[in-house]
Amino acid sequence: MATPTATVTNRRLVLLPLPLQGHLNPMLQLANILHSKRFSITILHTRFNSPNPTNYPHFNFVSIPDDGEEKLLISDIGNLLRLFNYINTSLVDPFRECLERLMSEDDGVACLITDAQWYSTQSVADDLKVPRIVHRTSNISSFRAFSRIRILREMDLIRRFSDQEMKSEELVPGLEPLKVKDLPKFLTMEAEGVCKVLELIVHGSKRARAIIWNTFRELEDRELEALNQDFPNPHFLIGPFHKYFSASSSSLLVQDQTSLSWLDKHPPNSVLYVSFGSIVKVEESQFLEIAWGLANSKQRFLWVVRPGSIEGSEWIEALPDGFLKNIVEGRGYIVKWAPQQDVLAHPATSSFWTHSGWNSTLESICEGVPMICSPSFGDQLPNARYVSEVWKIGVTLENWFERGEIESAIKRVMVEEEGLEIRNRIMNIKGIVNLCLKEGGSSYSSLEDLVNYILSF
Ligand code: UDX
Repeated sequence: MATPTATVTNRRLVLLPLPLQGHLNPMLQLANILHSKRFSITILHTRFNSPNPTNYPHFNFVSIPDDGEEKLLISDIGNLLRLFNYINTSLVDPFRECLERLMSEDDGVACLITDAQWYSTQSVADDLKVPRIVHRTSNISSFRAFSRIRILREMDLIRRFSDQEMKSEELVPGLEPLKVKDLPKFLTMEAEGVCKVLELIVHGSKRARAIIWNTFRELEDRELEALNQDFPNPHFLIGPFHKYFSASSSSLLVQDQTSLSWLDKHPPNSVLYVSFGSIVKVEESQFLEIAWGLANSKQRFLWVVRPGSIEGSEWIEALPDGFLKNIVEGRGYIVKWAPQQDVLAHPATSSFWTHSGWNSTLESICEGVPMICSPSFGDQLPNARYVSEVWKIGVTLENWFERGEIESAIKRVMVEEEGLEIRNRIMNIKGIVNLCLKEGGSSYSSLEDLVNYILSF
């Protein structure tokens, strides 16, 4: 694809990703995009879940020294609150020392770009007088829900919910089309700690010079307009990032390439790709419902089961004996981690059963692959609502641990007329993506603006 030809530079940018797969991928893609604009790139990273520098010989990598607590975090990475607290308290001073050292070098630091969850870096940037830009890995639609956290709590949702004044199907005032049940749980229940951290993240984004989004204007124009009322910062919608540079080199797990050779054996548009991202975990009984739902649908499937993603199991040992050979009769294939973008682009892939993480959703949109959404937490819930009710490019499977409902959702999307209509709509959006990245397109122009904006510091 074309990249804008704005003024070129070799000024240094320091990028600070959150050490989680769904955050590392877009940040490293962003780094590549900015490098292609002739900025020099330094990636500041934690020692745990660190990106592999050998995949990026054109970047400089600097590791933030830590106190060794990271081992605890890796074994409990699902506990995001703990991770956010850790990086924003224990790692702040080491981060400051690294940044000061980089500033004292000949190249200096033109701008700091951090994942939004590193909210404490704003004060450091202010002290050291370095402009900070925030990179949001979620989309605008879901961020709006988070950004209204204070208002939502003031609306007394908790009491109204428990007094049954409000039902889970009810629209949230000011956040339509989101329903009460689409709000991340901590917004509707007492969870003081989570809300506090969230407010700090929102506040840190507000204080940043600008926000970079991995999305495109045509998809979220109305949401951007609404967000602008609370967040007057400049917004740069330059996505989808992975259309400039793929994410495979930032994968923390080995991608099983046999996924592609298995897909090669199947007809076009015949395989359901199933993956629930890098964090979601399920219980063993739920895993078995998924397995039986897939088997009973009689459709072909490629299923990513991440080791450790089933409580109490190493991998797939809980499956009934002979599941793939005798029950599924060769229609299914299971891998530990797949080259997802290539899988979605493969002609045999028909649909994607996803947890509705934003990267997965965007990757599916870019390949025109209809989705079955099974969100678990955080931004996944709003993402699924937008996919199924606003963009209408997928269906939401509300009860995704019940084999009958799984079977019928798969058939809706893969066999029935509804699936065809969904496919037509998502193919249309895929066409828009291609246009917005071309010269004169919305993301192309926004990237040009971003480059000029950074050069103006
Ligand atoms: C997390 C949260 O779950 C999500 O809600 C938030 O939007 C981002 O952070 P994650 O669970 O990792 O994200 O999901 P997602 O955002 O979809 O990112 C997963 C990434 O891993 C994608 O880029 C995908 O291509 C990649 N992936 C996934 C693989 O490379 N192989 C796989 O087998 C599965």
